[in-house]
Amino acid sequence: MNVYDSERMTEALAREGYAETAELESADLVILNTCHIREKAAEKVYSDLGRIRDIKDARGRHGKNTVIAVAGCVAQAEGAEITARQPAVDLVIGPQSYHRLPELIKRIADERKSIVETEFPGDEKFAKLTARRRVSSPSAFLTVQEGCDKFCSFCVVPYTRGGEFSRPVAKIEAEARELVRAGAREIVLLGQNVNAYHGEGAGGRAASLADLIRHLAGIDGLERLRYMTSHPRDMSDDLIAAHAEIPQLMPFLHLPVQSGSDRILAAMNRKHTATEYIDVIGRVRAARPDIALSSDFIVGFPGETDQDAEATIDLIEKIGFAQAYSFKYSPRPGTPAAIRRLQIPDELKTERLLRLQAVLEGQQVAFNCRSIGGVVPVLFERQGRQAGEFVGRTPYLQLVHAAGAGDLVGSTANVAVTEARRMSLSGVIAAA
Ligand code: 5AD
Ligand code: SF4
Repeated sequence: MNVYDSERMTEALAREGYAETAELESADLVILNTCHIREKAAEKVYSDLGRIRDIKDARGRHGKNTVIAVAGCVAQAEGAEITARQPAVDLVIGPQSYHRLPELIKRIADERKSIVETEFPGDEKFAKLTARRRVSSPSAFLTVQEGCDKFCSFCVVPYTRGGEFSRPVAKIEAEARELVRAGAREIVLLGQNVNAYHGEGAGGRAASLADLIRHLAGIDGLERLRYMTSHPRDMSDDLIAAHAEIPQLMPFLHLPVQSGSDRILAAMNRKHTATEYIDVIGRVRAARPDIALSSDFIVGFPGETDQDAEATIDLIEKIGFAQAYSFKYSPRPGTPAAIRRLQIPDELKTERLLRLQAVLEGQQVAFNCRSIGGVVPVLFERQGRQAGEFVGRTPYLQLVHAAGAGDLVGSTANVAVTEARRMSLSGVIAAA
């Protein structure tokens, strides 16, 4: 979602005459869009800010001013603490205030003092961002839902992004049409809890994520739809049916489980058991047998025993994932789990993470190897590093490298897969 937000900020500033630069040294304005989900990401902000401050000082010696802004969830969570810790920062701006960016930057120039803006002004943001979209890839992001009401005991999202909010179907459709006009062939619908989507639909009635997907599937030129991230509790029957019925909806599901131990799942306030998760996956697979599955895992949650860690491995082995993300538990300020007793030592977290990742990596290699010898439609997203090479994705989200004549970016071609590695496939184009 930070990628999407950064695009929207860039567009809002383009109206004011700003253009992107790849060189930090030549930037009049530097925006750091930050993540607060784990301590490592949040702490990185301060080391990056130190580096940017040095550049600001050096530019200052040549008479050039540099405005430094911190956006994203660290801005939301830490507010004025950021300017206190790094006085070179001019603006701290939370995720709900991005539409005010141009105005705030002007105010900094006029008033010559730093500003902290972390209000939650409701649904103003999307209405005030530009309607015109630019796309840098045939696969575009579109935020349809923000915030979360689930309050998993380890997670900062309900505090930094706020409560659940769903954008109306008509607004999303307009943005999707604009993205397709600008060259998107695939749209990834985003939300911290995207399958809890319940936006205003036709006649003022609430629309589910499945309703929204059905609606968007009618847009000419939009070949592929995806959505992330989902919660197991919100995997409704109509969404599962959509996977069987809507050809544009890609056979891929990112459904975080976090742990395979019911004891830990309860302590995490996940609101589902391991069996319930396995049951949901069973129903999704009945609807779409070839679906590729992805998940998030946390190891070393407070109180996690060897037995709990093994239960997670068992669950992974029962299900079989095409890919996954896994993390060591990171205590986050203000979350209930951070003050639990029985925090797990880092060495043990590392040990459990390595074991878990070895199993997941084995499954990922196996999943990719099953593609060898087959033919898959690949939507090409960009040129590869070698001349004449293009990089795209299969419906199962696997990265594919293939050589092609002409410019393949934005087109879909069938690729005969010849090689597979953990992170990607290679093949030759079979037919356009
Ligand atoms: N520590 C480690 N991982 C976390 N996640 C969320 N909060 C934490 C935390 N405190 C992970 C979860 C979530 C993903 C986006 O980040 O697995 O699904
Ligand atoms: Fe965080 Fe996801 Fe739990 Fe919401 S459902 S609190 S975003 S982990």
